[in-house]
Amino acid sequence: MEYRDIAIGRRSIRGYKGDPVPREVIDEIVSVAKQAPSSMNTQPWHLHVVSGDPLEHIREENTERMMSGAKMDREIRMHGRYDGDHRDRQKAVAGQLFEAMGIDWGDKERRIDWAMRGFRQFDAPVSMIGTIDRELIEDSCAYLDLGQFIYGLVLAAWDNGLGTVINGQGISQSSVVREHANIPDDEVIVITVAIGYPAEGFPANDVVSERRATEDIVTYVGFDDRG
Ligand SMILES: Cc1cc2nc3c(=O)[nH]c(=O)nc-3n(C[C@H](O)[C@H](O)[C@H](O)COP(=O)(O)O)c2cc1C
Repeated sequence: MEYRDIAIGRRSIRGYKGDPVPREVIDEIVSVAKQAPSSMNTQPWHLHVVSGDPLEHIREENTERMMSGAKMDREIRMHGRYDGDHRDRQKAVAGQLFEAMGIDWGDKERRIDWAMRGFRQFDAPVSMIGTIDRELIEDSCAYLDLGQFIYGLVLAAWDNGLGTVINGQGISQSSVVREHANIPDDEVIVITVAIGYPAEGFPANDVVSERRATEDIVTYVGFDDRG
């Protein structure tokens, strides 16, 4: 596939087949993603690829704690609730997903069920936990570097017929993830990416989320001066 087709065609996948993802396929995806640029080529990222029983334990305990009203337990700084334009965009994509899944805004039970799916990482067969070296915890570039690696990962997955959803909910209780995935102390858990083969006919998988207009994003300076 051409880069343009992959980048524009990719969507987050929230319904998976149970089929396992072979290690060789993940190695192939990582070998592409690791070409991402990083600050002074520091490559501060690590990926912990979890499946089987350890992933089941993470799903169960993450969900249990979140449903019992435990406080969010993340290892990175969080902004909290989004406001203004950010909140509007958040609500827009949630509305698209709920509509696809036939979930009514007033249907609290089904909304909770959807949130729980998120805490279970949408029951994907594999979870890829992205970390950075702890000594760079205060270095914003390290998060940018990891983000580039992660985007490379989801595009390479799509190119190989796999679906992903980058998933903050799955590491809401990061101490649970740290324990069952055996994350070393000198790394900080930043994000996880659920990965697997997309389930056919799962309505949320067809949702195409909206993007801001290019002219809303870009500001040009000095272009008209050159004649
Ligand atoms: C840092 C980050 C965290 C995310 N966390 C979640 C999540 O917890 N649950 C979820 O359903 N989607 C999550 N997403 C996916 C976004 O909702 C999705 O990328 C966005 O709505 C755009 O849709 P698209 O990926 O289909 O283009 C996350 C994405 C990113 C980049």
